[in-house]
Amino acid sequence: MSGIIRKYHSFLPINDRFIVTLLEGNTPLLPAPRLAAKIFGSLLKNPPELYLKLEGLNPTGSFKDRGMTYAVSKALEAGSQAVICASTGNTSASAAAYAARAGIRAYVVIPKGKIALGKLSQAVMHGARVVAVEGNFDEALRLVKEIAQEGGVTLVNSINPHRLEGQKTAAFEICEQLGGPPTHHLLPVGNAGNITAHWKGYREFCQTSPTSPTGRTILPKMLGFQAAGAAPIVLGHVVKEPRTVATAIRIGNPASWQGAVAARDESSGVIDKVTDREILEAYKMIATLEGYFCEPASAASVAGLNKLARQRYFGEGDRIVCTLTGHGLKDPDNAIRISRSPVTIKPELKKLIKALKL
Ligand code: F0G
Repeated sequence: MSGIIRKYHSFLPINDRFIVTLLEGNTPLLPAPRLAAKIFGSLLKNPPELYLKLEGLNPTGSFKDRGMTYAVSKALEAGSQAVICASTGNTSASAAAYAARAGIRAYVVIPKGKIALGKLSQAVMHGARVVAVEGNFDEALRLVKEIAQEGGVTLVNSINPHRLEGQKTAAFEICEQLGGPPTHHLLPVGNAGNITAHWKGYREFCQTSPTSPTGRTILPKMLGFQAAGAAPIVLGHVVKEPRTVATAIRIGNPASWQGAVAARDESSGVIDKVTDREILEAYKMIATLEGYFCEPASAASVAGLNKLARQRYFGEGDRIVCTLTGHGLKDPDNAIRISRSPVTIKPELKKLIKALKL
């Protein structure tokens, strides 16, 4: 009940007076046996252990809170009275919430029409000044970087190193929850900060607490997944007009590109792409098989799992973690669009029995 800064204080140095927290972190690592059986059932006799890290259960509904508590606290410590970010939605919701809690201003720049309704409602409710640009996230990020360079307002996108420092705590938690690192960690990749932060977290955890009998802990393979229409790292070039149903990762020129490539290469991992169809299929599978509702971008991790499983990438003894980065209620429109709408009836028992197909 402390929030990540107090819990991992030695990794996140700060003068305690300036800590701004919504008691983020400490999110569940949910075993997912039904999803594992569905994905691996026809491929392996014994499916690997599969876990979902429910980052949507952070206070503003996404993993961004881990980085934001530290970035906003450090901004306060440095005497800043305002924060600014470009965002596909979740960063803005988190920045707005932590700025409100700190009593400072938040400025938010979003790509017009490409942000899920729940995220926009959060930013405006927390009192941020929100501007939509007729362009994509990459253009919004370029603009806010220029504003932040002028001084007076702190940039809280993940190019702010404090963001990644906070986000690495998710890897610490997973190691604590499993009693050591998993063999594989899968997560969606947008601006590529989270995969970079996780890799840093795993390396630091393994340096400080060797847990294997040999005294050496094996680091996980980092597996990142971009949406096929927004896959610059996979393609090896900037994507000028990124497209995907998973608006959170609709990014054509990730700020932490190098960090993601290093995480992939140093861990002998993979960065691959998944189609919108594969993302939506995984989105539905997670909700129907495991009872957890995540947003479409989050499902890119499970879509990636499905894709690599079919390529026989995993073995029976593997211990796999998929991060579900954001909560499903952030984006009700997509959920409703791909689901069957309710039948409407008169309030009569016979009609109800028929409609329920009992
Ligand atoms: N999943 C969700 C739900 C996200 O909101 C994001 C990024 C990612 C995955 C990708 O993480 O950028 O660290 O690779 N959202 C940012 C935002 C870009 O503005 O909210 P990443």
